[in-house]
Amino acid sequence: METKKVERTTGGLDGVVVADTRLSEVDGERGRLIIAGHDVEALIGKVSFEDVVALLDRGRLPDAAGREATRAALAEGRALAFERLPGLGDALARPDGMDALRAALAHLPAGEGFGASARLAGATAVYAAAWARTRAGLAPIAPDPSLGHAADYLRMIRGEPSGEARAAALDAYLATVSDHGMNASTFAARVVTSTGSDPVSSVVAAIGALKGPLHGGAPGPVLDMLDAIGTPENAEPWIEGELLAGRRIMGMGHRIYRVRDPRAAVLEQATLRLEQAGVRTGRLDLARAVERAAEGILRRKHPDRPLRANVEFYTAVLLDALGLDRASFTPTFAVGRVAGWCAHIDEQRELGRLIRPASRYVGPMPS
Ligand code: COA
Repeated sequence: METKKVERTTGGLDGVVVADTRLSEVDGERGRLIIAGHDVEALIGKVSFEDVVALLDRGRLPDAAGREATRAALAEGRALAFERLPGLGDALARPDGMDALRAALAHLPAGEGFGASARLAGATAVYAAAWARTRAGLAPIAPDPSLGHAADYLRMIRGEPSGEARAAALDAYLATVSDHGMNASTFAARVVTSTGSDPVSSVVAAIGALKGPLHGGAPGPVLDMLDAIGTPENAEPWIEGELLAGRRIMGMGHRIYRVRDPRAAVLEQATLRLEQAGVRTGRLDLARAVERAAEGILRRKHPDRPLRANVEFYTAVLLDALGLDRASFTPTFAVGRVAGWCAHIDEQRELGRLIRPASRYVGPMPS
């Protein structure tokens, strides 16, 4: 049997441009993230998650009326999702939050997302919170339409208002992770949309992609790592041991960034603001020491491949400081990223072209 001699691809589509988008730009060399015309550092802390949802949807930051309309649409999406809770079967009983979110969102009627991204965003927040409550043996809490999306999500999980500083920190987090170029989950959503399928199916596919530890599943393991390291002096030997065992250091490295992920800095600052507002953040000093140690060791091991902190590193520290359980970290990522998914779904629908790449056959040829 004849075998074709071909050079194998890495399979990662590195550097392949698959779409023109007005939504966000990731400059990996300079460590720059632009969200619809704004540097992420210029947005975060100054505008709300609602503002970023409106920005992604309409291409410009909203005025007061636009902000109120987005806030009301998200509140309505949360209310509608909560009404549907009794019809979700055992979806929220899954031990894994992303499995629960996937199953819960899959119950939404297929037509739900058309022109109504706020319903998908509302449902993601309500079901992620309801799963966290169910897991803790508590009853889900109804949304409060008078609150902003972040404040209400936190309240639906914790069972009581969390105060302005915590709500502001979560709001900053959700806005920071709202969109990030052609990441794996966004690409998954666009591929499904490109077939002419519905937005609910696209978001369910994106949830599946986000779950993986190489994408959105890393922040829980980052916290496990900080717990295992315990003290700054233990960082180097622990990291060396992990690498010797052939394991990756979670929260380090990125497909696109060759410098520190700008979102890591934004979230580190948000954690610092929380501390300044009197909220104990616990692991910030340890995290900084571990980041320094990991960066140094990885630089020595991979002198030609910069491996610096990514968004997940300080996500873990920030969400932990907000009192969220580590099992809720990836579902909370979805609560922010669904804004980007929905905007990309709309953009892809406008484009109306099937995404269908090619593969290279490396199997045997018929004799
Ligand atoms: N720890 C240790 N080594 C790492 C590493 C990490 N976090 N990330 C990459 N590397 C190493 C790889 O083992 C590989 O080494 P090799 O050439 O000796 O085989 C080299 O760096 C290149 O890695 P590659 O797999 O080509 O990088 P990628 O672009 O596919 O990976 C990530 C990007 C994010 C998937 C990767 O850095 C990673 O797994 N990080 C940890 C998980 C994480 O934080 N995910 C959240 C991403 S936002």
